[in-house]
Order: sequence, then structure tokens, then C-alpha cells
Amino acid sequence: MRIVAVTGGASGIGRAACEVLAAKGWKVVVLDVNAEGAKEVAARIGGDAYTLDVGDEKAVETVAAQVEKEIGPVFGLVNSAGILSSPVPPEELPIAEWDRVVHINQRGTYVTSLAFGLRMKARRAGAIVNIASITAWRSVPLHSYAATKAAIVSITRNLAAEWGPSGVRVNSVSPGFTRSPALQAKLDSGERDALALKRATALRRLMEPEESAYAMAFLLSDEAAGITGIDIPVDGGWLVAQSWASYPRVRGDWP
Ligand SMILES: NC(=O)c1ccc[n+]([C@@H]2O[C@H](COP(=O)([O-])OP(=O)(O)OC[C@H]3O[C@@H](n4cnc5c(N)ncnc54)[C@H](O)[C@@H]3O)[C@@H](O)[C@H]2O)c1
Repeated sequence: MRIVAVTGGASGIGRAACEVLAAKGWKVVVLDVNAEGAKEVAARIGGDAYTLDVGDEKAVETVAAQVEKEIGPVFGLVNSAGILSSPVPPEELPIAEWDRVVHINQRGTYVTSLAFGLRMKARRAGAIVNIASITAWRSVPLHSYAATKAAIVSITRNLAAEWGPSGVRVNSVSPGFTRSPALQAKLDSGERDALALKRATALRRLMEPEESAYAMAFLLSDEAAGITGIDIPVDGGWLVAQSWASYPRVRGDWP
């Protein structure tokens, strides 16, 4: 049974990844700063849980070594740990907050990829899926968050080229607006508007966490053995549809 580690596995898209991968026969190791949440998910899917803050690179290295010693060699890694942010203008975004989002989303993805990826490289086998975002591909008013997601696309490509000769594949998934607890909190507070998000999306709906998880499961599987360095958007067609707002009223349901 292949082992996969999922950061941010206690909630939302990471949690869906844990459930889908377990259902597909993976032995899942749930890694999250939320210890109770990680334990609860692991207990439900017959996996294991470790408490981990991806912002702490020493802890990441310690946990990677511990997982390999206690559970076995990790073949797959999903980097889903991340924090969302608010659409404020730059003058209202404290640089400490900018740094915090970079530290968790971008640096966290990199150091976790290194801790597990270097072990995969030594064994010449493994696959990593990073969670980027549609915000990596368009301008949005999320000055730290979107930059971290574009950086994650770059990290994905660079590590794919770096480790390809060693048989380790690195890809990313870019979820669109996905009904996770994090996005739901933004909808509930009025900071995001469900109708506006749906209208800008070709399929006219929000994404479900499982929909990203299925793309991740494919990229981790041997069915994707020839695929590395790519990004799969799971966005309901937001990337292709949102520019249609430049042509108002040409379709009945546009704003
Ligand atoms: N929900 C969306 O619309 C959306 C869209 C695009 C990308 N994403 C990305 O998907 C990923 C998951 O987001 P989500 O919406 O499911 O959020 P979520 O808050 O529901 O889940 C995120 C999980 O990451 C964990 N986490 C946060 N900081 C951590 C840290 N320092 N170390 C370890 N774990 C940590 C949280 O405890 C939580 O369990 C994030 O990378 C996010 O940027 C989400």
C-alpha cells in the first residue's frame, strides 16, 4: 500500500484529498497544525495523524523523518496547508501580514516539498501535488496571497525539472472558488459574494473540495506517470469565463 502525506489534511480541500486518496487505496498520513482535526480525519479513514506547522522548517524535517520511520517510505505528497486572505488595498495590508501568508503558503510548500521530496529523490520514486490557485493565473486584489500562489506554480515547475531525472514528478492543482470552511467563512462574513463568484464561472457554481481531490489523485497515480511540471485548474471554467464581463448583457445571466 503506497503512503501519501497530506498537509492541511484536517479541513477543506486537504481533507477531501485525504478521503479520496484513502478510498483509492492509499495509506494516508494527515499533517496539520490543527491536531484534533487531523486526528479526527485520520481516525475516519484509517490513516495516521501528525501535528505539523509547515511554517516551521525544523518541525517539517523532524515530522518527515518520524513519518518515514514509523509508517514507511512516503511515495506521495499533497501540499494543501494554506491560509486565505482579504481583498484589501496595499496601503491597508501590513507587511507583517504579507510575510505571514508568504511564510505559510509559499515557504511552507517549498520546505515541505524538500523534506519529503529529497527522500523520494534518494529512492528514485515519488509524486508531489502542490495546491496553487486560479489567483496565480489572473490579477486579483489579494496582494500577498496571489503572489504566493504564482510562486507555488513556479516552485512546481522548478522542482519538476530538478527532480525529473530522479523519477520524482511534481505538479499542481489550481482550485477555483471552492466551498471549503475557509471560503464559507468569507461568504458568511460578506467578504466574498457567492452570486458574483458563480456569475464569473462558466459552470455557474462553486467548486466542491472533492473535485480538486480527484485531480490530485490522478496526478499522484501511475496513470499520470508521464506528467510532470503542469498545473490542472479545477475551476468550473472561471479562467475561461471571467473575461466575458467585458461584454455585458450579451448573455442573459451576466451582470
Ligand atoms: N477554498 C478555495 O476557494 C481555494 C481556492 C484556491 C486555492 N485554495 C487553496 O487550497 C488550500 C486549502 O484551502 P481550504 O480552502 O481547504 O482551507 P481550509 O482552511 O478549509 O483548510 C486549510 C487547512 O490547512 C491547515 N493549515 C493552515 N496553516 C497551516 C500550517 N501553518 N501548517 C499546517 N497546516 C496548516 C488548517 O489548519 C486547515 O486544516 C490552500 O492552500 C488554499 O490556498 C483554496
